[in-house]
Amino acid sequence: MRLNQVFMLIVASAGIVGMGVASCQPQRAFDTEATAPAQTSPAQTSPAQTSQPASQPQAVDRDVPYVPTPESVVAEMLRVANVSQNDVIYDLGSGDGRIVITAAQEYGARGMGVDIDPALVQQANDRARQAGVSDRVQFVQQDLFETDISEATVVTLYLLPDVNLRLRPKLLEELRPGTRIVSHSFDMGDWEPEQVTQVDGRTIYYWVVPEEIPASLRS
Ligand SMILES: C[S@@+](CC[C@H](N)C(=O)[O-])C[C@H]1O[C@@H](n2cnc3c(N)ncnc32)[C@H](O)[C@@H]1O
Repeated sequence: MRLNQVFMLIVASAGIVGMGVASCQPQRAFDTEATAPAQTSPAQTSPAQTSQPASQPQAVDRDVPYVPTPESVVAEMLRVANVSQNDVIYDLGSGDGRIVITAAQEYGARGMGVDIDPALVQQANDRARQAGVSDRVQFVQQDLFETDISEATVVTLYLLPDVNLRLRPKLLEELRPGTRIVSHSFDMGDWEPEQVTQVDGRTIYYWVVPEEIPASLRS
């Protein structure tokens, strides 16, 4: 994991407007973020804002650092995606599992989370048990680029701009038409979202996989 990636997520997490970042591609995404988000509980606090770092073993070679999505943003992501009990939700890079667990708790959805970090996978499965939804959700240690996502009806992301772009062809090839995709903070380049919303200074992007994939979006 590169230092500038850590910095980018921390900046996105803090919602700092117009902050210059070493990588040029993400600048547009950061520019859409508004003022600092509400941080109302320890669970919502980013690693940069605590003296106790979140689980982040050095041995894990991840594409994106662990920064949890605030609960208010989780709620809005699920609302935007119109999640219901008929859905199968996949969170790619699932952290402590909050998005999938909330989808099961609040909407009765089934779900799967994948994360490269085994400690986070264990934490997520523990949280699912505590929440009483472990019959409907599961978390597995896996590289999100290797995950079979074909069963998903909703995919959630809180990654990074370049990771979203690398993931885009997989999303478009493997997901069925009509599958909804929701991304916290970061867009997918020239794949125009159907909806963009803001909550607590965060931007949420929403796409639906089309029947016909334009050639320009395949790479
Ligand atoms: C910004 S956090 C988002 C966590 C959660 N989705 C949320 O919104 O609260 C990104 C997560 O992706 C995981 N991750 C990074 N690279 C990954 C990879 N190649 N495969 C699976 N997970 C990965 C990290 O361990 C981290 O938990």
